[in-house]
Amino acid sequence: DAADANPSQIAAEAARVIAETTGVAAHDIALTLGSGWGKAADAMGETVAEIPATEIPGFSKPALAGHVGTIRSVRLPSGKHALIIGARTHFYEGHGVRRVVHSVRTAAAAGAKIMVLTNGAGGLNPDWAPGTPVCIRDHINLTAASPLEGANFVDLTDLYSPRLREVVARMHGLDEGVYVQFRGPHYETPAEVRMAGIMGGDIVGMSTALEAIAAREAGMEVLGLSLITNAAAGISPNPLSHEEVIAAGKAAESKLASLLTDIVGEIA
Ligand code: 6GU
Repeated sequence: DAADANPSQIAAEAARVIAETTGVAAHDIALTLGSGWGKAADAMGETVAEIPATEIPGFSKPALAGHVGTIRSVRLPSGKHALIIGARTHFYEGHGVRRVVHSVRTAAAAGAKIMVLTNGAGGLNPDWAPGTPVCIRDHINLTAASPLEGANFVDLTDLYSPRLREVVARMHGLDEGVYVQFRGPHYETPAEVRMAGIMGGDIVGMSTALEAIAAREAGMEVLGLSLITNAAAGISPNPLSHEEVIAAGKAAESKLASLLTDIVGEIA
């Protein structure tokens, strides 16, 4: 299986397929669009090519409705090229952490210097109504996994770029929070959410942290953005549902598309 080969070699092959298919020799910035953020792909610029992920080495079929399963190359108004990853593999799918970070390694191999990771997540701060976008300041990785293998002691200080966070805070005034990645696919218990808060977490989700680590290893600058789709368990008295999460994402889509378009215009 291709997944057993050297991860950087498969990422290089994937990047070669992307360069050939798009005619874009190097992309400048890459974005992974999570729940609620998908519409930004249409808003950001002119689509050069959209490739089904299944045609690119190392990618799996999308497991979830609402995840588009394509890689899209977009030409920004500035003339820069953005690689938009609409094909996220989650750790809870059980394909291993290499699969989870393959898209990030592919983006790096495709030339991207900035990696924007977006997601839909639960909020611990009761002031964050569903539909609130929050900038990730740092993370706590509770997956007990790492995308790095061997004696690869990568420093994670300022993993979420202070330069990019500053742009987002100054231009858009977003609150910041610490993202806690759980393995999922179940949502947390109220006790686990309290634990996350005591640890210093503000946002709970099932993606992003492992991808951010791989992006740092690859030397990319990382920006993380969470859409708060719901209050985490125990914060709100209502039980959580995947449908509610998707609906909150849908409701915020247009707002997030213009927010992300603005941010990309400022940082790319
Ligand atoms: Cl409450 N938890 C996790 N882990 N992921 C989520 C979520 C909660 N809400 C949306 N995504």
